[in-house]
Amino acid sequence: MNAEVAAVRAWTASGGEFPYAEVLCAYRRWGKALVPIDLLDALSEARPHATAGLRTLLDVLLDKRDGTYDYRSYLALPLLAPHLADRDLLTVLLVADLMRFELAAADDPAGPLPVMPPDDGLVDKRLRHGLRVIRPVLDRLGWAVPVAGPGVRVEARAVWATTESALSDGQRLMLRCTVLPVDVVHDEYLFIRVLQTFEAAFAALVRDLERAAGALTDGAVCAAVNALRHAAALLREVSPLWSVVATMRVDAFRRFRQWTEGASAIQSRHYKLMESLARRPDVARLGSAAYDHVPEIRELVLTGLPSVDAAYRTATLPPEGRAAAGAAMADFAAAVDVWRRTHHRLAVRMLGAATGGTGYTGGASYLAEAREIPVFS
Ligand code: HEM
Repeated sequence: MNAEVAAVRAWTASGGEFPYAEVLCAYRRWGKALVPIDLLDALSEARPHATAGLRTLLDVLLDKRDGTYDYRSYLALPLLAPHLADRDLLTVLLVADLMRFELAAADDPAGPLPVMPPDDGLVDKRLRHGLRVIRPVLDRLGWAVPVAGPGVRVEARAVWATTESALSDGQRLMLRCTVLPVDVVHDEYLFIRVLQTFEAAFAALVRDLERAAGALTDGAVCAAVNALRHAAALLREVSPLWSVVATMRVDAFRRFRQWTEGASAIQSRHYKLMESLARRPDVARLGSAAYDHVPEIRELVLTGLPSVDAAYRTATLPPEGRAAAGAAMADFAAAVDVWRRTHHRLAVRMLGAATGGTGYTGGASYLAEAREIPVFS
């Protein structure tokens, strides 16, 4: 019997500290898609004994076996959920950890996820883009990072050291439990962390748009403008994440993608909520695959989710207030437009124009169509 199976069975029998290290290490050794059946059996037998937090992790670990594997479980979103309210802090944790992983691979290419390790130039490029994402957030948080000399590696190591020294036990465990690649290809780590960081941004954008819609309804133009400008600035601030994910090798992506069928960001609730809060989707869009994947958001729309667009059209505003709100809406729409175009370009590069998506759409053709949907009317 493998050591991790024995450790899980011992925990089920006698309790004590759950063997996180053994289990997570085994998942990294095989990749979630190829974890041996005896470990899955042991985890499944352990699940009824688990408390709520551990049970959430076990659900995520057992998703393929349970038939519940999707975008949420792939990204371990139920484990990230309690951290989404503090977008800045979560962004630092996720991106600093991504950089730590790249630095570790540069030091030891035979470490975790050893297939297709990056060369030195690629590591430096990833660190450069990662630092572009994280610097403004560190400034806002007021974290002083003592950087001992020039060079991206020195700065990235300093960012991780500062982050690590600030981690609570809960945050440390969250970071360990939220990267569960399906394969053992190096680049999948980066892919997961980038998607999670975008999710944190979408969650923040949802809050901004809710604020903007409410403020417009109340005639509070300044508050609405601030919320919309904040949303646009945030979407622009996270755009270097596209440069990070664009460094993924196409071969690496295609290798782990064979196991990600059924997990697609088309299932992102925050993204669809953001779209619906900006403007009520047209009937055709609401009835399409886009919303089939998020039935709870479709339900919200059908039961009267307020939108910025509707609030703007119906609110009684002075002419200068209407102009200011309209300009802020146009600013946000422009940021979304850039996001969609960048995403579409990347998808074409990674998949080609004719390959379907893991969410069972036509792939690039679906994105090309979605790209043209007006953010506001
Ligand atoms: C290699 C990189 C990527 C590729 C090849 C890719 C491909 C696709 C494809 C083909 C779809 C259509 C749905 C489907 O059938 O799966 C899609 C949807 C989507 N992707 Fe990506 N994607 C990539 C990276 C990302 C990243 C980093 C994010 C950030 C969160 C993201 C967010 C989304 C969202 C929100 C949708 C739903 C869009 C909608 O329904 O209008 N994607 N992606």
